[in-house]
Amino acid sequence: MTHKVDFTVPEIEDFDSPHALFAELRNHCPVAWSDDMGGFWAVTKHADARHVLENWEMFTTTIQNVVPRVATTQRRPPLHLDPPHNKPYRNAIQRHLTPMKLSDWEKRMKPMVARFLDPWIEAGGDICKDFSFHLPIAMLADFFNLDADKAELIRVVGAEFNMALQRMDFDLLRAKSDELYDIAADLIADRHATPRDPETDPAASLLAVRVEGEPLPDDMILGALRQFLLVGIIAPTTFIGSMAVHLARHPEHHAELTANPDLVPEALEELLRLYTPYRGFARTAREDTEISGCPISKGDPVAIVFTSANRDAEVFPDPDSYRLDREARDLLTFGRGPHMCPGAPLARVLLRETLLQLTQKSVRLEQRGEIEMTNWPEYGPLSVSFDVKKR
Ligand code: HEM
Repeated sequence: MTHKVDFTVPEIEDFDSPHALFAELRNHCPVAWSDDMGGFWAVTKHADARHVLENWEMFTTTIQNVVPRVATTQRRPPLHLDPPHNKPYRNAIQRHLTPMKLSDWEKRMKPMVARFLDPWIEAGGDICKDFSFHLPIAMLADFFNLDADKAELIRVVGAEFNMALQRMDFDLLRAKSDELYDIAADLIADRHATPRDPETDPAASLLAVRVEGEPLPDDMILGALRQFLLVGIIAPTTFIGSMAVHLARHPEHHAELTANPDLVPEALEELLRLYTPYRGFARTAREDTEISGCPISKGDPVAIVFTSANRDAEVFPDPDSYRLDREARDLLTFGRGPHMCPGAPLARVLLRETLLQLTQKSVRLEQRGEIEMTNWPEYGPLSVSFDVKKR
């Protein structure tokens, strides 16, 4: 099915240009078709994004769940399965993110953030390459009880995978994806050989799941671990880069947080709204349908542009401003509906501690040079450097 082209995906973007494009689309063509990246609808308004996310019977995740489409033969639950098939995988992981376990994570996060942040505060430099890329990998390695060698391997392969995705080098992407599968397969083999307590080990939890008395299929457990090993790394990496750019551009906000650390949780929510790191998670229409009057054909990919929905003036008045006095923050940063991010509470612990230590250990960040940006499906810096004025 051919569609009238509403916009083209710019080849070169900067930190602000995606927001300008999305504002234009929200105002003039909120459900917009692009022939780029295989062809897709961009859903840019908050209500329409919610509609797509909540109506999983119409908009399936089993065909194309990211723009640009990454060709792969393997399924990775829970993201690639519609309800109820995604649930056992989510439940197995969510039991490791109970309020009690999260309060333990809060204590563990302090030294973990300090370990990676302190050298950066001393020397300044690239916050993504030298800090925010390492921290989420260390956290996930800890979450999955991986040893240091495996964590380092994920760091290297994860970086190469991300670079291949940014450059749309699909052969390299497949090769790196296979390497991540190998890491996940080793983890499963290890848990079979040396069983661990499902209460304390997420991989053991997945192996312990029974659906109607049967264990989950091996290839799906493998896919789920591969999904978790990567999906939690990229968003925190780029988002921390965005937070630092914001602080550098707004020294008054930096000073306010340095003086009032109690404001950090509110500030984090506002920054998660302003610099939402995912814009390309997608669904596919099962039947001909419409979104706010725009006809969508069966089989069309639909990208839910979270980065745009969170700046919709109908939900967030004065949407481009950083304001800590917002009454309600109906954020879509972590999605909505059956695939809403199960890692969100853990991500928030990591990001809160990072923002806290960043603004307690420094009083001013000055951006050095240009920002190298990520591309769809993410938004945010891949690399950005700063001079740091220590406290
Ligand atoms: C700033 C950090 C993060 C952001 C903004 C983020 C955002 C998201 C979003 C928007 C989705 C929904 C995708 C969709 O509906 O198609 C999602 C799903 C998911 N996220 Fe996160 N995420 C973050 C961190 C993490 C972390 C740290 C983990 C792991 C501990 C994680 C694990 C997952 C998984 C497994 C899914 C798929 C869930 C499902 O399909 O049921 N995420 N994330």
